[in-house]
Amino acid sequence: MKVFVTKKIPEIGINYLKERGFEVNVREEEGIIPDNQLIEALKKYDGIISMLSDNLSKEVLKHAEKTRVISNYAVGYNNIDVEYAREKGIIVTNTPDVLTYATAELAFGLMLSASRRIVEGDRFTREGKFKGWEPLLFLGKTLDNATVGIVGMGRIGQKFAEMLSGFNVKIIYYSKTKKDLPYKFVDFETLLKESDLISLHLPLTKESKHMFTENEFEKMKDGVVFINTARGAIVKESDLIKALKKGKIAFAGLDVYEFEPEISDELKKMQNVVILPHIGSATEKARNDMSMLVAKNIEAVLRGGKAITPVNQ
Ligand code: DGY
Repeated sequence: MKVFVTKKIPEIGINYLKERGFEVNVREEEGIIPDNQLIEALKKYDGIISMLSDNLSKEVLKHAEKTRVISNYAVGYNNIDVEYAREKGIIVTNTPDVLTYATAELAFGLMLSASRRIVEGDRFTREGKFKGWEPLLFLGKTLDNATVGIVGMGRIGQKFAEMLSGFNVKIIYYSKTKKDLPYKFVDFETLLKESDLISLHLPLTKESKHMFTENEFEKMKDGVVFINTARGAIVKESDLIKALKKGKIAFAGLDVYEFEPEISDELKKMQNVVILPHIGSATEKARNDMSMLVAKNIEAVLRGGKAITPVNQ
């Protein structure tokens, strides 16, 4: 059986499949796979290991002939029309759990580096601008006695909350599905109004697209810290930029962008924003574990069994 991988991933999962008799072809080119190559693959391969940047929309999926399983190398699967895939008889899988710690950890890193101005300070020091200790140099925001608002309380949101346990913070959260966790559940408006720092941990869906616009930023406290490691399009980026310019948002830490991989030039110029290249799950351990999980999902479905982590089965 033939499997196509749209980008190089850690070898461990590829070898796992090859050792079990699968023929695996990995696309060597850099950059996001064009739609015509995806369409070709959907005609020729039994299984596809796809990336979160691959466009598996209805327009592309309608050309599928041979593919029975799409194993997305990510926990998020907003790049795939999963309902349409189901109609076409294609099982879609993702990689939950194995990247939870890594992604929560990155949100934590962004939270501290944005609010304590760590990246800004590093730039300043490298540029030779440090002329000695200053009482007013790089004053940031503290977590001491802060209210942290978590939006989305799935695995990653909960891990992020757990990681905060050593800090003197009050955690409040808003979630559509979980209301009985050992933190204070609040409605969305209250979260916006009461948080000193807001971190997003929800998937991108039709409902969550542009959940954060000027209207929501206006309701936040002045000088709030805003962290997004979820999906860029949950936030209207032009409104985020306005809120940053006005100082409504004092600092932001971003790993994801509305028009990824495009990032607005304005955002790139702002000193009070830490911007990362979507590396939430980028630890050796998480990426190796993801590689094994995508491989095992492919194996399970193509051998006629149940997928391990299906999203539309
Ligand atoms: C995912 O897997 O959806 C994350 O965005 C990876 O960083």
